[in-house]
Amino acid sequence: MSAPDLTVRIGAMSMKNPVMLASGVFGYGDEFEGLAPYGELGALVLKTITKDPRPGNPPASRTAETPSGMVNAIGLENVGLEAFLRDKLPAARAYGTRVVASIAGDTPEDFAACARALASAAVDAIEINISCPNVKQGGMAFGVDAAGSAEVVAGVRSATGKPLIAKLTPNVTDIAEVASACERAGADAIALTNTFSAMVIDVESRRPVLAANTGGLSGPAIRPAAVYRVFHAARAVQIPVIGMGGIWNAQDALEFILAGATAIAVGTALYADPAAGHRVLAGIRDYLVRHEIACIADLVGSVRLHD
Ligand SMILES: Cc1cc2nc3c(=O)[nH]c(=O)nc-3n(C[C@H](O)[C@H](O)[C@H](O)COP(=O)(O)O)c2cc1C
Repeated sequence: MSAPDLTVRIGAMSMKNPVMLASGVFGYGDEFEGLAPYGELGALVLKTITKDPRPGNPPASRTAETPSGMVNAIGLENVGLEAFLRDKLPAARAYGTRVVASIAGDTPEDFAACARALASAAVDAIEINISCPNVKQGGMAFGVDAAGSAEVVAGVRSATGKPLIAKLTPNVTDIAEVASACERAGADAIALTNTFSAMVIDVESRRPVLAANTGGLSGPAIRPAAVYRVFHAARAVQIPVIGMGGIWNAQDALEFILAGATAIAVGTALYADPAAGHRVLAGIRDYLVRHEIACIADLVGSVRLHD
């Protein structure tokens, strides 16, 4: 069998393979230089930026380890739009693969302003982070509600012609409803999931471990719950779904693809292994060869359900 076709398409953005790096864990890419050939991956989603720089939550206690995962509350620390365009984006572009900017804001207008500023920038797509659990305003406040999500997406849609990815929170009752609302508002793809709202308490001091008191759970602990949401969202929309949540190896990634994900993103695993995305990619390729599947697209959503 000749080499399988791994190419995928997210709106107008074509990717050489379905493996992406999730927003936040790769920063803007500059701190990872030399650790692995990241240009071989399908796309790099950079840390969420806001119009103005943000300091984030107090650095001393932003993360806590948990069984098979971690809870974080970084609080959207970022350099702001201007410094991102001037100092960070050129270095990320130098990896030589697709680059996705992630944006957030306190109001739908903030999101649209970011998108307008990125409309002529060298980014291949824009991810709309309506799902950050670790900020006091904006963030998840939009994503937990179908109408709020749609309002943000529609505002961004009217600000730019770039491919748009709506990144959703898993912390909702009906993920299919929110995904459908984003599709109707003009999103080209859905990314699922961001972290699950969580809390860790130190029983001796009786104080929350995180400075922000609560945070978001990521890592293998969330994987089955994330696969479940991808499965339901993918059945509700026509646009591609990008699956993530605790992907550590190719088998994990394939679960998301079988559930309906067109592409997948590696997040927390990158902290354990900077080449986690490369391992996942190699394993997906092996699986396709072993099962004589010519094209990754043939696998998407092909889970064989019990009656
Ligand atoms: C330390 C950390 C920072 C993150 N920062 C962002 C962010 O800036 N924007 C965003 O959309 N998601 C952010 N995420 C969420 C991840 O992109 C991803 O959706 C989530 O962690 C689930 O995938 P994983 O279990 O593979 O990490 C962050 C996650 C972690 C662990």
